[in-house]
Amino acid sequence: MCGIIGYVGGRACRELILSGLERLEYRGYDSAGFALLDEGDGVVETVRAVGNLARLRAAAGEDGGSDARLGLGHTRWATHGRVTTENAHPHSSADGAVMVVMNGIIENYLELRHELQDEGVVFASETDTEVIPHLIAREYDGDLASAVRAVLPRLGGHFAFVAAHVDEPGRLVASRRECPLVLGVGDGERFVASAIPAFLRETRDIVVIEDDEVVAIEADGLTIWDGAEIVTDRAVQRVDWDEDAAEKGGYETFMLKEIHEQPSALWDTIGDRLKPDGSVDLPELGLDDAALARVERIHIVACGTSYHAGLVGRYLIEDWARVPVHCEVASEYRYRTCLAGPGDLVIGITQSGETADTLAAMRVARERGAHVVALTNIMGSQATRDADGVLYTRAGLEIGVAATKTHTAQVMALSLLALKLGRLKWALTAGGALDLADELRRIPDAVEAYLASPAPAQVMEVAASYADRPFFLYLGRHVGVPVSFEGALKLKEISYIPTEAYPAGEMKHGPIALLDEGSPVVVVATDGHVFDKVVSNIQEVRARGARVIAVATEGNSEIERHADDVLWAPRSPALLSSITAVLPLQIFAYGLARARGLNVDQPRNLAKTVTVE
Ligand code: M6R
Repeated sequence: MCGIIGYVGGRACRELILSGLERLEYRGYDSAGFALLDEGDGVVETVRAVGNLARLRAAAGEDGGSDARLGLGHTRWATHGRVTTENAHPHSSADGAVMVVMNGIIENYLELRHELQDEGVVFASETDTEVIPHLIAREYDGDLASAVRAVLPRLGGHFAFVAAHVDEPGRLVASRRECPLVLGVGDGERFVASAIPAFLRETRDIVVIEDDEVVAIEADGLTIWDGAEIVTDRAVQRVDWDEDAAEKGGYETFMLKEIHEQPSALWDTIGDRLKPDGSVDLPELGLDDAALARVERIHIVACGTSYHAGLVGRYLIEDWARVPVHCEVASEYRYRTCLAGPGDLVIGITQSGETADTLAAMRVARERGAHVVALTNIMGSQATRDADGVLYTRAGLEIGVAATKTHTAQVMALSLLALKLGRLKWALTAGGALDLADELRRIPDAVEAYLASPAPAQVMEVAASYADRPFFLYLGRHVGVPVSFEGALKLKEISYIPTEAYPAGEMKHGPIALLDEGSPVVVVATDGHVFDKVVSNIQEVRARGARVIAVATEGNSEIERHADDVLWAPRSPALLSSITAVLPLQIFAYGLARARGLNVDQPRNLAKTVTVE
């Protein structure tokens, strides 16, 4: 969480910093700030503001022709200290000479703060970050890089930061530990940022910084230290990312654009992995077929929407491959006695590849000897570095805080893994695997046809008619359970309406007490072997006066007799309705939040990447 950016080079950088921050805004938007330095003049501009980047721009006003060629900026998701201007970054040393922006947490900051206060340092904020500029100022002896290298071992926790000193207006020094930081190498200029999109318009040449390295960047050079050693062999890599991914491309929001990008996310995730004979090629797993065939147990760890994909993965893998799967939220898994070990496969699902709890759970499993695979959307992310193998979704950059296309791509990637395992374990016949492969190939087209049909507009209409309801219950059975969980999460995170999601069969053990005349209940009632059971549950809620909004398979007219409103989902085999039935629920949440006039791309209190525990 939090996005940081720095620039040093030959161009006036005010706009580069601001537009770079806008591309990092998905990482947090409680407050933001920037500082610009110039040779001779020292700090020429510092602006901090509560709220998102639009508020920072408003506070900064028009560019008065600043030609500062060094800048650093920050967009914050608050951890330590309230959302105030004083707690917004950059933070400075007492004399204002050192400026720092940081993403992450300094776990021993209280101890460091007391130590500095005992020496007479007066703090201007409540943040953990502020200890860094004070420590650097204490160590500074004319060389910022040496001061940062001296401070680094004192810092506990996980972080990435960029520092500048007024006496060195042509130089930025940065470091990271378990939080992302990447360098952009341009012609006579250098960028440093939490994520590549921050500078993708300017350069595609990047340099990766490893944990606990310190890097000094200047317009024409960079030096990396690993402890006392200078790193001499760090290659410049070229990324071929789509620059348009960070634009709305004509859609009113990123979330809507990303909902509509699901067909290509699904096609690309299948890509060349699914062969005409129904076999699946996943070379990056780090396990050859013989080793994969020996896997007896799978653990899936993840958070939020990725956890819901993991729950779907359990149904797919257990049904197609007959391998037992344990799926758990990473924040719990990491603190339980971990029983994974050699021979087990542990899959950490994290679209960002940065979620602190998922990374920690993966590390616990790896330490116990399990083979750990990162299922992620971000190449080179921390999860990929911490894992033995990877399984990439190819959904493209997702900016809306509410995950949509990465979720359905995760389910597709898990389907491919389940299919592969099913063949290796002889749980599927060659013909059975071929049929499933054909079904998988049909899904992106079905999703595309659905999104181009009148169905989404009808879902938006239904959603708007429920915009004033204070509570929604979501129900489902079998694979409809994680689908209902995902639908409920989408609604609560972007509309702020309380939701409860439950396996429909469990409803009468408690949640049914929540229902009253007119209470809206969203029921996942797609075709499959539990359809009749779900219809019985619908009768039970209707008998209590509830209004039923059913998610049903296109063409199933029977549901119309049981539901007050129907949200149609594209036809697919029962297990793969985990992809198709989630579409109307994404659109339902979207339509309802828009009807309430809310900013769906930046829901309150949330951030796209959750790099703190
Ligand atoms: O990057 P990750 O997939 O690890 O993120 C996990 C959750 O933070 C994320 O899915 C979150 O629940 C989304 N906001 C849901 O839309």
